[in-house]
Amino acid sequence: SIVYLNGDYLPLAEASVSVMDRGFLFGDGIYEVIPVYAGQLFRLPQHLRRLNRSLSEILIDKSYLPEDLEEVSANLLSKNNVQNASLYWQVTRGQSSQRDHRFPSNTEVTCFATVNPLPSAAQQPDATGRKVISVEDVRWQRCDIKAITLLANCMARQQAENQRADEAIMVRDGFAIEGSASNLFMVQQGCLVTAPESHWILGGITRELILEIAREKGLRVSERLFTLDDLLQADEVWISSSMREIQPVVSVDGQAIGNGQAGPMWHQITEYYMAYKQ
Ligand code: PDD
Repeated sequence: SIVYLNGDYLPLAEASVSVMDRGFLFGDGIYEVIPVYAGQLFRLPQHLRRLNRSLSEILIDKSYLPEDLEEVSANLLSKNNVQNASLYWQVTRGQSSQRDHRFPSNTEVTCFATVNPLPSAAQQPDATGRKVISVEDVRWQRCDIKAITLLANCMARQQAENQRADEAIMVRDGFAIEGSASNLFMVQQGCLVTAPESHWILGGITRELILEIAREKGLRVSERLFTLDDLLQADEVWISSSMREIQPVVSVDGQAIGNGQAGPMWHQITEYYMAYKQ
């Protein structure tokens, strides 16, 4: 495949970055994952807004960004001639001459983008019930920044994998807040509930769209914290991300949710979501 690196379009095998890159040494960078459906970047302005916000929050000067990200994104899609894919963006604080925690002055960022096939090219709703486990959230206090520093997320996800589960749900102070790479929803007495935006979660673009659609359709919605206990008692549980879209969860820590199948509200919202995608 063709990737973008610091102003050039080149084959993946020819793209390389210095071992002195702060992304490699410190995980000092941010990223975005943007879905591509039928050749179109989905919710691109929202993703680029979040990318810019992440850069601001970690004090990377945007003037170092080589080009118009929107233009590069479009170029990369056409060069790879993809229809259904995900576009990955990564920006790090660049390379410096020595390993030093302090931010270097005047370092050019490393800016990388690549296109990957979608794990499931499903254009139809996938009602397969997913299993999740709960894990203690050992991440830092700035989960709102889409940082490439993802060791805690990877460890949680691997723990799920080891237990043949599809995702790990982060529990902080007793609250079930989000997945290792997804946001979390529950349906309780007809009300759709998800954790509010804060430093504890990543403000998912899919989450935002689900809330937008639900409100537009007149469903009851509440953005508030809820406990793992609430989750276990919920009528429905879903996880969402740009990669997973909206997935129904049918068991948490081996306990069945509802009747162990995708629930009616999931079917409803997924129908709206699919219509929105067209
Ligand atoms: N992850 N929460 C976390 C911790 C995430 O890593 C993600 C996405 C989400 C969902 O955000 P969105 O709807 O904008 O994709 C929530 C991406 C897909 C990843 O790390 O690959």
